[in-house]
Amino acid sequence: MKLLTKTLLLCMALALVHGAPSHHGDAAHHDGHDHDHDHDHDHDHDHALPNRCDGIEFDAISPDEKGVTYFFKGPHLWKGFHGPAHPSNESFEELDDIHNIGHVDAAFRMHDAENLDDHDHIYFFLDDKVFSYYNHSLEEGYPKQLNEDFPGIPDHLDSAVECPKGECGANSVLFFKGHDVHVYDISTKTVKTKTWDHLPICTSAFRWLEHYYCFHGHNFTRFNPVTGEVNGTYPKDARAYFMSCPNFGHGGHYQIPKCSEVKIDAITIDDAGKSYFFAGPIYMRLDMHRDGRHAFKITKSWKELTSGVDAVFSYADKMYMIKDDQVYIYKSGPHYTLIEGYPKTLKEELGVEGHVDAAFVCNSQHTVHVVQGKKLLDVDLTATPRVVTQERLLPLSDIDAAMCDAKGIHLFQGSHYYNYESVEILTASRIAPEPHNITSEMLGCQD
Ligand SMILES: *[C@@H]1O[C@H](CO)[C@@H](O)[C@H](O)[C@H]1NC(C)=O
Ligand SMILES: *[C@@H]1O[C@H](CO)[C@@H](O)[C@H](O)[C@H]1NC(C)=O
Ligand SMILES: *[C@@H]1O[C@H](CO)[C@@H](O)[C@H](O)[C@H]1NC(C)=O
Ligand SMILES: *[C@@H]1O[C@H](CO)[C@@H](O)[C@H](O)[C@H]1NC(C)=O
Ligand SMILES: *[C@@H]1O[C@H](CO)[C@@H](O)[C@H](O)[C@H]1NC(C)=O
Repeated sequence: MKLLTKTLLLCMALALVHGAPSHHGDAAHHDGHDHDHDHDHDHDHDHALPNRCDGIEFDAISPDEKGVTYFFKGPHLWKGFHGPAHPSNESFEELDDIHNIGHVDAAFRMHDAENLDDHDHIYFFLDDKVFSYYNHSLEEGYPKQLNEDFPGIPDHLDSAVECPKGECGANSVLFFKGHDVHVYDISTKTVKTKTWDHLPICTSAFRWLEHYYCFHGHNFTRFNPVTGEVNGTYPKDARAYFMSCPNFGHGGHYQIPKCSEVKIDAITIDDAGKSYFFAGPIYMRLDMHRDGRHAFKITKSWKELTSGVDAVFSYADKMYMIKDDQVYIYKSGPHYTLIEGYPKTLKEELGVEGHVDAAFVCNSQHTVHVVQGKKLLDVDLTATPRVVTQERLLPLSDIDAAMCDAKGIHLFQGSHYYNYESVEILTASRIAPEPHNITSEMLGCQD
């Protein structure tokens, strides 16, 4: 087996918008956390092991508590969207030891905000048994009879998927068997059964980045978890979205940098708590780490931004994205839409001239702080026209990106960041504090 050692040249197939109406689209593709093992490409496989690029009908798909997605087929599994097959019993020992069945019927990761003892556990279903794992260890008391743990749910399932409150009416699990879907309410333990004849039989089901996917054959179909509705052109080939296979990608490669070599262009958090960072042609959403960290092309969500960004800030329900002397303002929502009349020049929009390094707004304030070299400019966002109201010196320069959240101001410079409690403390200081190192936890880079 050919191992590509700990390389930073991991190809990162990026998702491109593919006629999908959604902001995340279907597109899978990459994350920084599924590479802690062998870095083989999917096609460099051992002959004894199956190759998922051949077109596999998976038995089950589920993320673990760290956001790494596991794909199961017979006695094998794949970790994440890259890499070769492994025997399942290396990762989940008892699945094979006790039953020697060599497959699972279904698996899901529990989302149970009320019972943290079960939260983020992976449940496996094998005939009439259920296994609960956390941190890859079988929980005490398992395996159990399926109907003891999940009363009202039939044996020999086809697939299962979590559906948190907000996406389903209550924290639920969808259990698929044939064309029936049994919606299990986790707190009341009640079951509602629906029949979705229009969906193919889902041999595995997977929730990823707030979307729901039914896998059948080597294809998948995205569905609405409440109505079963399918929008858009399906099925699609899973090999082009959820794994990296030669001749199936959509092009676009991104190198996951080492944390010591990271350099971001911009970072922001909006009022709804959505946070993003931007680096070159890609962005990553930071507040959905339960599903791993995934990089996408900026143009997937902000199609006009074809050459990256210099600075980004969020204000009211809008995202202001600055590139060279242009400001693009997008309205937030399920999709970002460019507001009519934009881009406008920096001068016209913010009363600022010259290259902007970073910009941030602190919680529900109406001032944007613009970093230009060693200067911090304040612009009142309620004024018309907007003009610089204050100019102060910063204790440091060469800032790449900045954001402000409940913990204060974070200034990013290469692979380091600096924390300040407030703008006043930042501008009053004359010496830079100790920098902190950017970690994989923060930005999905490689340690
Ligand atoms: C996994 O299963 C294989 C084949 O059944 C067996 O040879 C191996 O010892 C098992 N490994 C573990 C860790 O249980
Ligand atoms: C997870 O399992 C590993 C190895 O079995 C162990 O070293 C670690 O302490 C466990 N972590 C937690 C949070 O239980
Ligand atoms: C997969 O989907 C394609 C259409 O995109 C279809 O032609 C093909 O028959 C499907 N294959 C399987 C195995 O479901
Ligand atoms: C499907 O499309 C219809 C019409 O465009 C829309 O009203 C509906 O919200 C969409 N449903 C999903 C699940 O995206
Ligand atoms: C930051 O990383 C460097 C190596 O890249 C290391 O020498 C240093 O100790 C780290 N600093 C902190 C505060 O962890």
